[in-house]
Amino acid sequence: MSFTSIEQAPARLNRSELAVPGSQPQLFEKAAISAADVIFLDLEDAVAPQDKEQARKNIIEALNDIDWRGKTMSVRINGLDTHYMYRDVVDVVEQAGDKLDLIMIPKVGTAADVYAVDMMVTQIEQAKGFSKRIGFEHIIETALGMQNVSEIAAASKRNESLHFGVADYAASTRARTTNIGGANPDYAVLTDADGGERERHWGDMWHYAIARMVVAARANGLRPIDGPFGDFSDPDGYLAAAKRAAVLGCEGKWAIHPSQIELANQVMSPGEEEVERAQRILAAMREAEAQGKGAVSLDGRLIDYASIRQAEVLVEKARAIES
Ligand code: GLV
Ligand code: MG
Repeated sequence: MSFTSIEQAPARLNRSELAVPGSQPQLFEKAAISAADVIFLDLEDAVAPQDKEQARKNIIEALNDIDWRGKTMSVRINGLDTHYMYRDVVDVVEQAGDKLDLIMIPKVGTAADVYAVDMMVTQIEQAKGFSKRIGFEHIIETALGMQNVSEIAAASKRNESLHFGVADYAASTRARTTNIGGANPDYAVLTDADGGERERHWGDMWHYAIARMVVAARANGLRPIDGPFGDFSDPDGYLAAAKRAAVLGCEGKWAIHPSQIELANQVMSPGEEEVERAQRILAAMREAEAQGKGAVSLDGRLIDYASIRQAEVLVEKARAIES
Protein backbone atom coordinates (compact mmCIF):
# COMPACT_ATOMS: atom_id res chain seq x y z
CA MET A 1 0.00 0.00 0.00
CA SER A 2 0.99 3.61 -0.44
CA PHE A 3 2.06 5.61 2.61
CA THR A 4 -0.89 7.85 1.71
CA SER A 5 -3.94 6.42 3.39
CA ILE A 6 -7.38 7.03 1.97
CA GLU A 7 -9.99 8.38 4.32
CA GLN A 8 -13.34 6.74 3.57
CA ALA A 9 -16.57 8.74 3.35
CA PRO A 10 -19.18 7.86 5.99
CA ALA A 11 -20.49 4.37 5.24
CA ARG A 12 -24.03 4.46 3.83
CA LEU A 13 -26.01 2.01 1.80
CA ASN A 14 -26.42 3.59 -1.62
CA ARG A 15 -27.56 0.67 -3.78
CA SER A 16 -30.57 2.52 -5.13
CA GLU A 17 -31.02 6.27 -5.33
CA LEU A 18 -34.55 7.36 -6.19
CA ALA A 19 -35.07 10.61 -8.08
CA VAL A 20 -38.23 12.48 -7.07
CA PRO A 21 -39.15 15.83 -8.67
CA GLY A 22 -39.69 18.51 -6.03
CA SER A 23 -42.61 19.81 -8.08
CA GLN A 24 -44.56 16.57 -7.59
CA PRO A 25 -45.29 16.34 -3.87
CA GLN A 26 -47.94 13.69 -4.52
CA LEU A 27 -45.03 11.27 -5.08
CA PHE A 28 -43.31 11.97 -1.76
CA GLU A 29 -45.22 9.59 0.54
CA LYS A 30 -44.83 6.72 -1.88
CA ALA A 31 -41.09 7.41 -2.08
CA ALA A 32 -40.89 7.43 1.71
CA ILE A 33 -42.27 3.89 1.96
CA SER A 34 -40.21 2.57 -0.96
CA ALA A 35 -37.17 0.32 -0.62
CA ALA A 36 -34.77 3.01 -1.90
CA ASP A 37 -31.61 3.47 0.14
CA VAL A 38 -31.26 7.14 -0.83
CA ILE A 39 -33.85 9.60 -2.12
CA PHE A 40 -32.95 12.80 -3.89
CA LEU A 41 -35.63 15.45 -4.08
CA ASP A 42 -34.98 17.32 -7.27
CA LEU A 43 -34.89 21.05 -7.84
CA GLU A 44 -32.94 20.83 -11.08
CA ASP A 45 -33.74 19.24 -14.41
CA ALA A 46 -37.01 17.51 -13.55
CA VAL A 47 -38.50 20.87 -12.49
CA ALA A 48 -39.63 23.55 -14.97
CA PRO A 49 -38.38 27.11 -14.37
CA GLN A 50 -41.86 28.36 -13.41
CA ASP A 51 -42.13 25.63 -10.76
CA LYS A 52 -38.72 26.07 -9.11
CA GLU A 53 -39.90 28.25 -6.24
CA GLN A 54 -42.87 26.09 -5.33
CA ALA A 55 -40.69 22.96 -5.61
CA ARG A 56 -38.28 24.46 -3.09
CA LYS A 57 -41.15 25.09 -0.68
CA ASN A 58 -42.50 21.57 -1.20
CA ILE A 59 -39.12 20.07 -0.44
CA ILE A 60 -38.58 22.10 2.72
CA GLU A 61 -42.02 21.13 3.99
CA ALA A 62 -41.50 17.48 3.06
CA LEU A 63 -38.11 17.22 4.75
CA ASN A 64 -39.61 18.61 7.94
CA ASP A 65 -42.97 16.86 7.96
CA ILE A 66 -42.72 13.49 6.26
CA ASP A 67 -41.48 10.39 8.04
CA TRP A 68 -38.79 9.25 5.59
CA ARG A 69 -38.25 6.06 7.60
CA GLY A 70 -34.54 6.44 8.16
CA LYS A 71 -33.70 6.85 4.50
CA THR A 72 -30.74 8.95 3.45
CA MET A 73 -32.20 12.22 2.17
CA SER A 74 -30.62 14.39 -0.49
CA VAL A 75 -31.66 17.47 -2.45
CA ARG A 76 -30.41 18.13 -5.96
CA ILE A 77 -29.83 21.87 -6.18
CA ASN A 78 -29.66 23.79 -9.44
CA GLY A 79 -26.36 24.31 -11.21
CA LEU A 80 -23.91 27.00 -10.20
CA ASP A 81 -24.53 28.78 -13.49
CA THR A 82 -28.14 29.55 -12.54
CA HIS A 83 -29.58 32.14 -10.20
CA TYR A 84 -31.74 29.45 -8.55
CA MET A 85 -28.78 27.80 -6.92
CA TYR A 86 -27.99 30.24 -4.13
CA ARG A 87 -31.61 30.26 -2.94
CA ASP A 88 -31.78 26.49 -3.15
CA VAL A 89 -28.86 26.27 -0.75
CA VAL A 90 -29.88 29.12 1.55
CA ASP A 91 -33.57 28.22 1.85
CA VAL A 92 -33.25 24.45 2.02
CA VAL A 93 -30.30 24.36 4.41
CA GLU A 94 -31.59 27.17 6.64
CA GLN A 95 -35.09 25.74 6.88
CA ALA A 96 -34.47 21.99 6.73
CA GLY A 97 -30.71 21.48 6.97
CA ASP A 98 -30.98 19.42 10.15
CA LYS A 99 -33.19 16.92 8.26
CA LEU A 100 -30.93 16.72 5.25
CA ASP A 101 -28.07 14.23 4.83
CA LEU A 102 -26.70 15.21 1.43
CA ILE A 103 -26.72 17.91 -1.20
CA MET A 104 -26.39 16.78 -4.78
CA ILE A 105 -24.47 19.19 -6.98
CA PRO A 106 -25.26 18.80 -10.68
CA LYS A 107 -22.93 19.56 -13.58
CA VAL A 108 -20.02 20.20 -11.24
CA GLY A 109 -17.09 21.29 -13.38
CA THR A 110 -14.20 22.25 -11.15
CA ALA A 111 -12.98 21.94 -7.58
CA ALA A 112 -13.87 25.64 -7.15
CA ASP A 113 -17.55 24.79 -7.72
CA VAL A 114 -17.39 22.44 -4.76
CA TYR A 115 -15.54 25.04 -2.69
CA ALA A 116 -18.23 27.63 -3.35
CA VAL A 117 -21.08 25.40 -2.17
CA ASP A 118 -19.01 24.19 0.78
CA MET A 119 -18.46 27.79 1.89
CA MET A 120 -22.19 28.56 1.75
CA VAL A 121 -23.26 25.39 3.54
CA THR A 122 -20.58 25.83 6.21
CA GLN A 123 -21.76 29.37 7.00
CA ILE A 124 -25.39 28.33 7.22
CA GLU A 125 -24.66 25.29 9.38
CA GLN A 126 -22.63 27.45 11.75
CA ALA A 127 -25.23 30.20 11.89
CA LYS A 128 -27.99 27.70 12.62
CA GLY A 129 -25.87 25.68 15.06
CA PHE A 130 -26.53 22.38 13.28
CA SER A 131 -24.49 19.55 14.73
CA LYS A 132 -24.74 17.21 11.72
CA ARG A 133 -22.54 17.97 8.72
CA ILE A 134 -24.28 17.76 5.34
CA GLY A 135 -22.39 15.65 2.79
CA PHE A 136 -22.00 16.24 -0.95
CA GLU A 137 -22.82 14.07 -3.93
CA HIS A 138 -21.48 15.27 -7.27
CA ILE A 139 -22.86 14.47 -10.66
CA ILE A 140 -20.07 14.04 -13.17
CA GLU A 141 -21.96 14.86 -16.33
CA THR A 142 -19.98 17.33 -18.39
CA ALA A 143 -16.73 17.13 -20.30
CA LEU A 144 -15.29 19.68 -17.85
CA GLY A 145 -16.41 17.67 -14.85
CA MET A 146 -14.92 14.49 -16.27
CA GLN A 147 -11.66 16.26 -17.08
CA ASN A 148 -11.42 17.53 -13.50
CA VAL A 149 -12.95 14.53 -11.79
CA SER A 150 -9.94 13.82 -9.56
CA GLU A 151 -9.76 17.40 -8.25
CA ILE A 152 -13.53 17.46 -7.71
CA ALA A 153 -13.36 14.19 -5.78
CA ALA A 154 -10.69 15.66 -3.48
CA ALA A 155 -12.23 19.11 -3.13
CA SER A 156 -14.13 18.86 0.16
CA LYS A 157 -14.34 16.86 3.36
CA ARG A 158 -18.08 16.81 2.72
CA ASN A 159 -17.70 14.71 -0.42
CA GLU A 160 -19.36 11.31 -0.22
CA SER A 161 -20.12 10.11 -3.74
CA LEU A 162 -19.67 10.67 -7.46
CA HIS A 163 -22.54 9.95 -9.87
CA PHE A 164 -22.35 9.38 -13.58
CA GLY A 165 -24.98 11.61 -15.22
CA VAL A 166 -25.16 9.90 -18.56
CA ALA A 167 -27.79 12.13 -20.19
CA ASP A 168 -26.01 15.42 -19.68
CA TYR A 169 -22.66 13.77 -20.29
CA ALA A 170 -23.86 12.64 -23.71
CA ALA A 171 -25.05 16.17 -24.45
CA SER A 172 -21.86 17.79 -23.21
CA THR A 173 -19.54 15.46 -25.11
CA ARG A 174 -21.86 15.52 -28.14
CA ALA A 175 -22.09 11.78 -28.11
CA ARG A 176 -24.29 10.43 -30.86
CA THR A 177 -27.14 9.11 -28.81
CA THR A 178 -30.48 10.27 -27.55
CA ASN A 179 -31.50 7.47 -25.20
CA ILE A 180 -30.59 7.78 -21.54
CA GLY A 181 -27.99 5.26 -20.40
CA GLY A 182 -28.69 2.53 -22.91
CA ALA A 183 -26.43 0.96 -25.50
CA ASN A 184 -26.07 2.24 -29.05
CA PRO A 185 -26.03 -0.18 -32.01
CA ASP A 186 -23.50 2.06 -33.77
CA TYR A 187 -21.00 1.40 -31.00
CA ALA A 188 -20.24 -2.12 -32.13
CA VAL A 189 -17.49 -4.31 -33.51
CA LEU A 190 -17.85 -6.78 -36.34
CA THR A 191 -16.23 -10.17 -36.22
CA ASP A 192 -13.63 -10.92 -38.92
CA ALA A 193 -14.67 -11.05 -42.57
CA ASP A 194 -13.53 -14.65 -42.97
CA GLY A 195 -16.10 -15.70 -45.50
CA GLY A 196 -18.77 -16.69 -42.97
CA GLU A 197 -21.55 -14.55 -41.66
CA ARG A 198 -20.14 -11.67 -39.67
CA GLU A 199 -21.42 -11.10 -36.16
CA ARG A 200 -22.05 -7.73 -34.69
CA HIS A 201 -21.21 -7.23 -31.00
CA TRP A 202 -22.50 -4.17 -29.27
CA GLY A 203 -20.02 -2.41 -27.02
CA ASP A 204 -20.65 -0.29 -23.95
CA MET A 205 -20.10 3.29 -24.99
CA TRP A 206 -20.12 4.43 -21.33
CA HIS A 207 -17.28 2.17 -20.25
CA TYR A 208 -14.54 4.78 -20.17
CA ALA A 209 -16.59 7.41 -18.40
CA ILE A 210 -17.82 5.11 -15.65
CA ALA A 211 -14.41 3.51 -15.16
CA ARG A 212 -12.73 6.93 -14.98
CA MET A 213 -15.22 8.14 -12.41
CA VAL A 214 -14.85 4.96 -10.34
CA VAL A 215 -11.09 5.46 -10.12
CA ALA A 216 -11.45 9.08 -8.95
CA ALA A 217 -14.11 8.10 -6.44
CA ARG A 218 -12.25 5.16 -4.96
CA ALA A 219 -8.91 7.00 -4.85
CA ASN A 220 -10.65 9.55 -2.62
CA GLY A 221 -12.71 7.17 -0.48
CA LEU A 222 -16.02 8.07 -2.17
CA ARG A 223 -18.89 5.91 -3.46
CA PRO A 224 -19.16 5.67 -7.25
CA ILE A 225 -22.82 5.56 -8.33
CA ASP A 226 -24.21 5.00 -11.80
CA GLY A 227 -26.90 7.44 -12.93
CA PRO A 228 -30.16 7.11 -14.81
CA PHE A 229 -31.50 4.54 -17.23
CA GLY A 230 -34.31 6.31 -19.02
CA ASP A 231 -36.38 3.49 -20.47
CA PHE A 232 -38.26 2.37 -17.38
CA SER A 233 -40.32 -0.11 -19.38
CA ASP A 234 -37.12 -2.08 -20.11
CA PRO A 235 -36.11 -3.85 -16.87
CA ASP A 236 -33.70 -6.15 -18.73
CA GLY A 237 -31.87 -3.16 -20.21
CA TYR A 238 -31.73 -1.59 -16.75
CA LEU A 239 -30.38 -4.78 -15.18
CA ALA A 240 -27.70 -5.12 -17.85
CA ALA A 241 -26.58 -1.51 -17.36
CA ALA A 242 -26.59 -1.87 -13.57
CA LYS A 243 -24.57 -5.08 -13.75
CA ARG A 244 -21.96 -3.50 -16.01
CA ALA A 245 -21.63 -0.57 -13.59
CA ALA A 246 -21.38 -2.93 -10.61
CA VAL A 247 -18.69 -4.99 -12.32
CA LEU A 248 -16.67 -1.79 -12.82
CA GLY A 249 -16.94 -0.93 -9.12
CA CYS A 250 -20.09 1.17 -8.77
CA GLU A 251 -22.03 0.45 -5.62
CA GLY A 252 -25.36 1.91 -6.63
CA LYS A 253 -27.55 3.15 -9.44
CA TRP A 254 -30.28 5.72 -9.78
CA ALA A 255 -33.92 4.80 -10.06
CA ILE A 256 -35.89 7.32 -12.09
CA HIS A 257 -39.01 5.19 -11.61
CA PRO A 258 -40.09 3.18 -8.56
CA SER A 259 -39.93 -0.05 -10.58
CA GLN A 260 -36.15 0.36 -10.84
CA ILE A 261 -35.54 0.43 -7.08
CA GLU A 262 -35.74 -3.32 -6.50
CA LEU A 263 -33.65 -3.94 -9.62
CA ALA A 264 -30.88 -1.71 -8.29
CA ASN A 265 -31.03 -3.23 -4.81
CA GLN A 266 -30.86 -6.69 -6.31
CA VAL A 267 -27.85 -6.02 -8.54
CA MET A 268 -25.94 -3.94 -5.99
CA SER A 269 -26.31 -6.44 -3.13
CA PRO A 270 -23.80 -9.26 -3.16
CA GLY A 271 -25.45 -12.60 -3.95
CA GLU A 272 -25.61 -15.39 -1.36
CA GLU A 273 -23.14 -17.49 -3.31
CA GLU A 274 -20.68 -14.61 -3.61
CA VAL A 275 -20.83 -13.95 0.13
CA GLU A 276 -20.45 -17.62 0.92
CA ARG A 277 -17.38 -17.86 -1.32
CA ALA A 278 -15.93 -14.70 0.25
CA GLN A 279 -16.35 -16.26 3.67
CA ARG A 280 -14.59 -19.41 2.48
CA ILE A 281 -11.74 -17.28 1.09
CA LEU A 282 -11.33 -15.57 4.46
CA ALA A 283 -11.36 -18.92 6.26
CA ALA A 284 -8.83 -20.43 3.83
CA MET A 285 -6.53 -17.44 4.19
CA ARG A 286 -6.74 -17.56 7.99
CA GLU A 287 -5.69 -21.18 7.80
CA ALA A 288 -2.88 -20.39 5.33
CA GLU A 289 -1.61 -17.63 7.57
CA ALA A 290 -1.55 -19.96 10.55
CA GLN A 291 0.68 -22.24 8.48
CA GLY A 292 2.93 -19.32 7.50
CA LYS A 293 1.78 -19.22 3.86
CA GLY A 294 0.85 -16.06 1.92
CA ALA A 295 -1.03 -17.70 -0.93
CA VAL A 296 -3.03 -20.91 -1.24
CA SER A 297 -5.42 -22.46 -3.69
CA LEU A 298 -9.17 -22.70 -3.21
CA ASP A 299 -11.38 -24.59 -5.67
CA GLY A 300 -8.40 -24.81 -8.05
CA ARG A 301 -7.75 -21.05 -8.03
CA LEU A 302 -5.01 -18.97 -6.45
CA ILE A 303 -5.98 -16.76 -3.55
CA ASP A 304 -3.68 -14.35 -1.74
CA TYR A 305 -3.79 -11.22 0.41
CA ALA A 306 -5.53 -9.26 -2.36
CA SER A 307 -8.28 -11.89 -2.27
CA ILE A 308 -8.75 -11.17 1.45
CA ARG A 309 -9.33 -7.50 0.75
CA GLN A 310 -11.86 -8.28 -1.98
CA ALA A 311 -13.62 -10.81 0.22
CA GLU A 312 -13.74 -8.43 3.18
CA VAL A 313 -15.44 -5.76 1.06
CA LEU A 314 -18.16 -8.24 0.09
CA VAL A 315 -18.72 -9.61 3.58
CA GLU A 316 -18.80 -6.11 5.05
CA LYS A 317 -21.40 -5.03 2.47
CA ALA A 318 -23.58 -8.07 3.19
CA ARG A 319 -23.41 -7.21 6.88
CA ALA A 320 -24.45 -3.60 6.22
CA ILE A 321 -27.46 -4.74 4.16
CA GLU A 322 -28.59 -7.17 6.86
CA SER A 323 -28.40 -4.64 9.67
C1 GLV B 1 -28.43 13.15 -14.78
O1 GLV B 1 -28.56 14.20 -14.25
C2 GLV B 1 -28.10 13.01 -16.17
O2 GLV B 1 -27.93 14.05 -16.83
O3 GLV B 1 -28.00 11.87 -16.63
MG1 MG C 1 -28.13 15.83 -15.60
